[in-house]
Amino acid sequence: MTESNEPNTVDLRLQFLHQRRSIRAFTHQAVSRTLLAQLLQAARAAPSGANLQPGKFIEVIGAARSALTDALMRNREELVEEREDYGYFPRPMPMQLRKRQVAAAQALYGALGIARDDAAGRDEQFARNFRFFDAPVALIATIDASFGEGGYMDLGMALHGLQLAASAVGMGSCAIGAMASHADTIREVLQLPADQHIVCGIALGWPDETAPVNRTRTSRLPLDVYLEQRSGPHDHLAAISARRPTNETNTQ
Ligand SMILES: Cc1cc2nc3c(=O)[nH]c(=O)nc-3n(C[C@H](O)[C@H](O)[C@H](O)COP(=O)(O)O)c2cc1C
Repeated sequence: MTESNEPNTVDLRLQFLHQRRSIRAFTHQAVSRTLLAQLLQAARAAPSGANLQPGKFIEVIGAARSALTDALMRNREELVEEREDYGYFPRPMPMQLRKRQVAAAQALYGALGIARDDAAGRDEQFARNFRFFDAPVALIATIDASFGEGGYMDLGMALHGLQLAASAVGMGSCAIGAMASHADTIREVLQLPADQHIVCGIALGWPDETAPVNRTRTSRLPLDVYLEQRSGPHDHLAAISARRPTNETNTQ
């Protein structure tokens, strides 16, 4: 399946959605409390099952931020492995998904001019995850451990809302799933209770337009990969309708 951005078919009103991309380098310009509050409110405008609004954003500031980065870097150097609070990638990764992963990595390292065999260069870029890419705002998204996958789905919508809102006002952001591999350390440094699952980090601020990393461009699969139609056959559907009681009610 070939990848495509289909840029010419996008309704102008949807441009704001297609303009968002992950931003991994920021200027030093601070983000005002008012603006941050507006972005978080935009995130919270997301729909959620039964309007439960699961999840939380923890703003990591001051000494806690440097302590967290130090601890995560130490874990990396000492090859510390922690159990993630939730599963993410399929294991093993099927070849077609692996190809997408490699394409995303190539887009990132290509923008940075880091060659395939430059392990040190890749390592250096990876380590920037743990510094929240030096963004002025560093957030950790958490969710109560009692939520199932649906809660993560809801929080994902809020995360997208936050990223879209940031992009719409000219800011930039990047979710940092790399942090989810160090959930215990994050809980320990930030003194979070054991029942707060660590979902991801988020770097937020004003994009450094001159930074090569921000020239990373990813593509998307064509629509027919996501959209499938089902229309019959008629005999099969008629047989199913015949089996159902006619007074079925929706209890939602
Ligand atoms: C939940 C989540 C976790 C992510 N984790 C990381 C990360 O740890 N490091 C990173 O550089 N990018 C991370 N990304 C950014 C993705 O690589 C990026 O969204 C993807 O390649 C598509 O590119 P785009 O956001 O520019 O459209 C993450 C994105 C999401 C949604």
